[in-house]
Amino acid sequence: MSTKKVSCGSRNYALESPREFDRLEKQSSFQGYSFDEDLADLPDLAESEHVASVLDAGCGSGQGTQILSRLYPTHQVTGCDRSEIRVEQARRKYAQDRIEFRVSNLLNDPPADYLTHQGIFSRFVLQHIEQCLQLDFIQGLYNRLTPGGWMRVVDCDGLLINLSPFPPDLMSATQKLTSQIGVDFMAGRKIPSLFRSVGLTQITCKVVPLVFFGAKMNQEIELMKERFQLTLPRMIEVLGSLQNAQDYQDRYLEGMASPGSIVVYNKFIVTGIK
Ligand SMILES: C[S@@+](CC[C@H](N)C(=O)[O-])C[C@H]1O[C@@H](n2cnc3c(N)ncnc32)[C@H](O)[C@@H]1O
Repeated sequence: MSTKKVSCGSRNYALESPREFDRLEKQSSFQGYSFDEDLADLPDLAESEHVASVLDAGCGSGQGTQILSRLYPTHQVTGCDRSEIRVEQARRKYAQDRIEFRVSNLLNDPPADYLTHQGIFSRFVLQHIEQCLQLDFIQGLYNRLTPGGWMRVVDCDGLLINLSPFPPDLMSATQKLTSQIGVDFMAGRKIPSLFRSVGLTQITCKVVPLVFFGAKMNQEIELMKERFQLTLPRMIEVLGSLQNAQDYQDRYLEGMASPGSIVVYNKFIVTGIK
């Protein structure tokens, strides 16, 4: 491991739990979070005599991997995730001839373990990579890509922060959470420059606002409750006690539910060619 990685630290996935599979499946079924527009208009891939494959990097439940296999019906599709539980759950639900699920930590796998792919898709993973390792993460994906291959990374900006009106009594705890919880709440906007830094070309960036207001807010409240439940242990560590963490969650959800409140995230869908 390099010195840089040691000083940067190694962070666990903030939402790790066997229940995360169900949360991801539910989230993808909700408006704004479905794979439809995230996987729309991907470049065509030529058939190849060599190992021709598409990678879903940080595949979670495996739903995106399965959709990719439908979009590329003559290609092998690999879904990889650092979580053994998630990979096991994905295999149980989405196993098929052309799909392989494998456990792989995209940051730490040695180059000898690299397989090259003609297309690489990664959704909602960058936000879980420490900022000081995000360039390494994107470089690692780039290294797995064959020349001429495409890469698409999708991530959001504004989670937790973009609630308005924001409860004033939660400001300082929110600052602590955003700096220590282990999620980069501004990951989306960083993708285009990271793509450029590793040498990807023909970069396109589509930004889709996810707006939760009025009746639509109920959907986001439901998802936020689940995120809060799964991150409770980390929130206790950051905020100092169970009571503090529970008070924060209750007040935040109250803020979301109050009439006139609005939540807006920006989803960045960024594509580049090697
Ligand atoms: C929020 S989930 C997104 C799952 C899926 N891509 C989706 O859009 O529903 C993030 C996933 O990234 C995985 N992950 C985080 N860091 C990773 C890493 N360094 N290598 C591989 N997978 C990672 C987590 O285990 C988790 O399953």
